[in-house]
Amino acid sequence: MAELEKTFAIIKPDAVRAGKAEEIMQLIELNGFTIIAKQKLQLTKMRAEEFYGEHKGKDFFPRLVAYMTSGPVWALVLAKPDAIKGWRALMGPTNVLKAREEQPKCLRALYGTDNTQNATHGSDAPGSAAREIKFFFPHLVPEPVTDPAVASQF
Ligand code: TYD
Ligand code: MG
Repeated sequence: MAELEKTFAIIKPDAVRAGKAEEIMQLIELNGFTIIAKQKLQLTKMRAEEFYGEHKGKDFFPRLVAYMTSGPVWALVLAKPDAIKGWRALMGPTNVLKAREEQPKCLRALYGTDNTQNATHGSDAPGSAAREIKFFFPHLVPEPVTDPAVASQF
């Protein structure tokens, strides 16, 4: 069987505000992902700016941070073989208008609002998935096993 991979997802404020979080989590599971951690939280401006640090300086950055701090979100860790690519495919294109034209059944087409308010986030590569999981769920990052009594069990 293919090896499980973990990715990081957010159900963003527009979808939570619309009362769609439970429905989206059901769709995630129907598509074969296991939700191995979940937490409802509200991002501060400082945390949102750090999370989206790669986009700092871009014209949409202030709009993105205002949106991401506008209400509660669900932070999720998803597991499945090839989870990173699979979750990006289920979300669909970043721009909701493009998503509706090209992939009308993807999550962003179904639940998003516009080019910024697009309902869901997904890590784009193994490095960002590890960083983003650690950002929200530091206890899930595997620690090196140093105790020989524990190490011998593996
Ligand atoms: P990006 O990482 O490019 O997209 P994705 O979420 O698909 O990985 O951008 C991060 C978020 O920034 C995106 O989900 C919505 C917002 N955004 C805009 O508001 N305008 C834009 O032109 C882009 C590219 C992104
Ligand atoms: Mg991205």
